[in-house]
Amino acid sequence: MKPPASKVSTHDAELDPRNADLKIYVNGEIVHRDQAKVSVYDAGFMLGDGVWEGLRLRNGQWVFLSEHLDRLFEAAKAIDLDIGMTQDQLTRALNDTAAANGMAGDVHARLMVTRGIKAKPFQDPRLSKSGPTVVIIMEFSKPVAGRGIRLHTVPIYRGLPVTQDPKLNSHSKLNCILAGIHAQKAGADEALMLDPHGFVNTTNSCNFFIVRRGEVWTSTGNYCMNGITRAKVIALCRANDIPVFEKDFSLVEVYGAEEAFITGSFGGQTPVVEIDGRTIGTGEPGPMTGHIRELYQALLETECPPLSAGEKTSP
Ligand SMILES: Cc1ncc(COP(=O)(O)O)c(C=O)c1O
Repeated sequence: MKPPASKVSTHDAELDPRNADLKIYVNGEIVHRDQAKVSVYDAGFMLGDGVWEGLRLRNGQWVFLSEHLDRLFEAAKAIDLDIGMTQDQLTRALNDTAAANGMAGDVHARLMVTRGIKAKPFQDPRLSKSGPTVVIIMEFSKPVAGRGIRLHTVPIYRGLPVTQDPKLNSHSKLNCILAGIHAQKAGADEALMLDPHGFVNTTNSCNFFIVRRGEVWTSTGNYCMNGITRAKVIALCRANDIPVFEKDFSLVEVYGAEEAFITGSFGGQTPVVEIDGRTIGTGEPGPMTGHIRELYQALLETECPPLSAGEKTSP
């Protein structure tokens, strides 16, 4: 019998009619989404040649902005792409786009930089002569607080840094997309991905944690995205006397865990209740996951405190 199709995405957001009329930033201009276009010769469209960041806006402030911009610039340097803008200029572009949309919170932004328009439809990066293409899409995006998610372990693994370094937030996400398709066809919501040695590494769009006997475990950090939320969770555990380990572990230890959760800028911490048909713990979001979520929400509140009356709402 065919497994039930997955109905949950780790990036499900509440429907918001305001998203029909979004304003998008394209190379210095902010235009209605219907007018927001890039060339078919763009290196991002043609080859997946670019890097991006996903950011949250909360109380009129960008969450962990400097970490996101540092990661973007590091990735751009790694692929030898000159963004052509400073971090301050990119911040202004983010702020202007939020202001144009009247946005202050529950907003997700995708900041994308590609190698720009190519002179000919070939791979050679020297054919991109226009300078980079910078696009910012922002959406009203409040995560749906749903049930925990189900994962399926897929045969598509995270590659070695000598192929396409999995630390790059590259426009081409085919490795992750194929993993996600595999998991969805198996009836799960998201893919659990192994490293080249068979140790459990990450999911196709989030970082992965388990809880065993009061300890929090995540992968060594090799082969997966150096997630900002992952780093914050590890730091929060350390600051709150929760034993946390970055280590190799296998599916045996995952199936036997009391709890599992995934992390990302969009959803913070999302509980995992089933992996490969095995119920994790009680099959309900667990107490450690809940505790870490509370610590993370408190951190966000400190980082991006509510605006006092009279302060402007957009950044
Ligand atoms: C493959 C992958 N893993 C994990 C993450 C989570 O990273 P962060 O916590 O910085 O949002 C992302 C987000 O871009 C991702 O693409």
